Amino acid sequence: MSWLKKYLLPILGLFTAYYFYSANEEFRPEMLQGKKVIVTGASKGIGEAMAYHLAKMGAHVVVTARSEESLKKVVSHCLELGAASAHYIAGTMEDMTFAEQFVVKAGKLMGGLDMLILNHITNTFMNFFNNEIHHVRKSMEVNFLSYVVMSVAALPMLKQSNGSIVVVSSLAGKIANPLIAPYAASKFALDGFFSSIRKEYSVTNVNVSITLCVLGLINTESAKNAVKGVLNLKAAPKEECALEIIKGGALRQEEIYYDSSFWTVFLLGNPGRKLLEFSYLSQYNMNKFLNNKELP
Ligand SMILES: *[C@@H]1O[C@H](CO)[C@@H](O)[C@H](O)[C@H]1NC(C)=O
Ligand SMILES: *[C@@H]1O[C@H](CO)[C@@H](O)[C@H](O)[C@H]1NC(C)=O
Repeated sequence: MSWLKKYLLPILGLFTAYYFYSANEEFRPEMLQGKKVIVTGASKGIGEAMAYHLAKMGAHVVVTARSEESLKKVVSHCLELGAASAHYIAGTMEDMTFAEQFVVKAGKLMGGLDMLILNHITNTFMNFFNNEIHHVRKSMEVNFLSYVVMSVAALPMLKQSNGSIVVVSSLAGKIANPLIAPYAASKFALDGFFSSIRKEYSVTNVNVSITLCVLGLINTESAKNAVKGVLNLKAAPKEECALEIIKGGALRQEEIYYDSSFWTVFLLGNPGRKLLEFSYLSQYNMNKFLNNKELP
């Protein structure tokens, strides 16, 4: 117990303090002015709300989703709100060729890329896992693999602009819950992949920030339908959520939490994980790879 008091508690305190006070820079909407931004899953919900915030801030936006009809409306509203430019490219993120080519085309439309906001998910529902392997595969492909594909396609442009990758995830990608195993698997995968890549970027001096957005229940139609009659939680407003995501990306934060209570954020801050990651990283011999000129 005395050991605990002497070392562990002060360390936990330091990590917590660091976590809460590390965002020292203030967000200003002008940060997005003239920036070139991709938003996926932008035909409705949080993605649509992000497109409108970005438009008001004077950014260039290229949006995507499956529904061309909805995207047309989103783009024309973006132009009304003051977007520097707004385009859409419709397609499905089940198709990895589309995912890759979409990023390349969007980059050409805007003449580069500053921020890649990955937000789309496949349809999801709550139920016991009843051996629906196809649903697991589809969730992994749409919610995870397409994010990786798009990041790979965007990286050359993001390196040039010192840009940002913003990954929309969920509390269900940080803690285990019943009834959403395929969704949870894909969201945990995002943390595993993008948090590892972030460490690689830091040792290889790739100045592309990665922001993992850990969202609670948001009042989008799809989320409300998915939890109806199962989860009795208050849903937070999607417009505010959308703004917090953009802020987190612009401030190059590693993780943002919305809309979690103080205790959720405190407990999920997970100083144990941060401490272990720090201590393991110091034991790696990265020179073996860093001398290889092929790598970034
Ligand atoms: C990216 O960051 C580097 C190092 O801080 C800086 O020299 C360069 O001008 C930046 N490039 C852009 C496009 O902001
Ligand atoms: C990385 O890019 C950001 C945004 O351009 C810049 O503010 C920062 O100084 C850069 N950091 C390094 C280490 O180059």
